[in-house]
Formats: sequence, C-alpha cells, structure tokens
Amino acid sequence: MPDSSSHSPSRLDSMNLPPELPQVPHDWYRPEGTSEEAARRYFEVMDRRRSVRFFSDKPVSRETIEWIVRTGGTAPSGAHKQPWRFVCVNDPALKKEIRAAAEAEEREFYERRATEKWLADLAPLGTDSNKPFLEIAPWLIIVFQLAKTDDGGMVYYREESVGIATGMLISAIHHAGLVTLTHTPSPMKFLSQVLGRPDHERPFLLLPVGYPADDATVPQLARKTLEEIMVVNRGDAGEDGTR
Ligand SMILES: Cc1cc2nc3c(=O)[nH]c(=O)nc-3n(C[C@H](O)[C@H](O)[C@H](O)COP(=O)(O)O)c2cc1C
Repeated sequence: MPDSSSHSPSRLDSMNLPPELPQVPHDWYRPEGTSEEAARRYFEVMDRRRSVRFFSDKPVSRETIEWIVRTGGTAPSGAHKQPWRFVCVNDPALKKEIRAAAEAEEREFYERRATEKWLADLAPLGTDSNKPFLEIAPWLIIVFQLAKTDDGGMVYYREESVGIATGMLISAIHHAGLVTLTHTPSPMKFLSQVLGRPDHERPFLLLPVGYPADDATVPQLARKTLEEIMVVNRGDAGEDGTR
C-alpha cells in the first residue's frame, strides 16, 4: 500500500478539486423474507409486463405519474449527473399534436425508411403507422436525455444512464398496475419542437401510460430462457454456478 501521508504530489493534488462529499450511514433496504424469495417475487411481477398498444382513456392521477417519475429519478448515473428529463403530457390538444407528428414520421418509416428486413422483423407484431394510443392514453411521458447539464456542464455515460432510468420508470409504471409501450417514432426531433424543449435536451423515448383497454391483446411472444441469457463464469461452471 502506498503511504498516503508522504506520497509525491499527484495529478489530483495539483488540481483545484471540489471537496469530497460527507459519508452518511447507508439506509439499506431489507425485503421481507430472504433475498432469494424477494428476487423471485419481483421476477413474478415483472414477468407479467407487456408492451401494450391498446389503451383505455380511464384517467390516471397526476400524483401517480409523479411517483413513477420520482422512481425514474432514483436511477444511477455517470458522475451523478442525472442527465434526464421526463416530460409528462396530459393536455388533449398537445397529445393530438404529438400523434399527428408521430404518425407522419411513422408513415415515412413504414413507406420509405425501413429496410425490408426491419419490416419483416416488425410484421409479427402487427404494428403500423397508426398510433391512436398517443391520444387515448391519459398520459404520455417523453424521456429526454441531457447532452449537457442544465447549467452547461458535462454529462457522462448519458445513453447508459437514461436507459437505466427509463427501465426503472417502466418497472414503476408496471408496478403501479398501469401499462406502457416503449415507442420510438424515428426521428424524434419533432418532440423537441412540439414540446418546446431546449437544445441540450434530446428525445430518447416516448411512453404512453394508462390502463389497458378492456379488450387489449398482446402478441404471443416467448422470452429467451435463463440458459440462453445467463452465463456463469466461462460457461463451464457446475449446475449451481458455485463450483
Ligand atoms: C428501444 C425500444 C423501441 C421500441 N419501439 C417500439 C415502437 O416504436 N413501436 C412499438 O409498437 N413497439 C416498440 N417497442 C416494443 C417492442 O416491440 C417490445 O418490447 C417487444 O416486442 C417485446 O414485447 P414485450 O415488451 O411485450 O415484452 C420498442 C421496444 C424498445 C425496447
């Protein structure tokens, strides 16, 4: 171990850095039962999440959306820069404008921009350029990533940070008994214009949020098995991965 009291001046010492934050005791979350039981319970909840494209217009309170957004805001982020903004829209006129602009982009995508391969990959999902859910769902959450902090500072690992925050937001939506769809009308620049967002905010994803329609259906999809998505060590471990 180098002796920190007598070390030669380092690059860090010569820089005028802000002071380190104080350390406080960690308020560790302890689930009920064992961690294995809690992990399984959470899986059983999350395994029921589906992307839903048929929404009810039943209202969802602003407070519900606020709790969901707060959860998105608990995500980790590179150097704690929190490079996200969640723009929540429930104004019918604004939703209508977003739908019209999104459908224009989607028509361009399905008719011109998408490769044949992409269209073939989408065909089983039955999606097209019509997006009525953008008006029917009571809320749209548009996730923006910040290319700079609000005061012009650097952000780090922006895509990773906002991707993680969006995942946590989606799990919070699901956990609240609501549904969403990860929607990516491409390109999404129109969202900055329609919503009047500043230049340093870049649209990332659009999430309609609400209750499913009474007769909502979802494509019958299979998820990859644990064996397909998990590798323990170099893949030649014993059965329980501990040997
Ligand atoms: C980054 C991303 C973009 C997506 N974009 C769209 C989209 O524009 N339109 C759509 O109908 N579904 C979109 N989806 C939803 C996927 O089709 C869906 O997640 C996938 O079929 C698996 O279904 P599940 O979410 O019900 O498990 C997107 C998903 C992700 C993660």
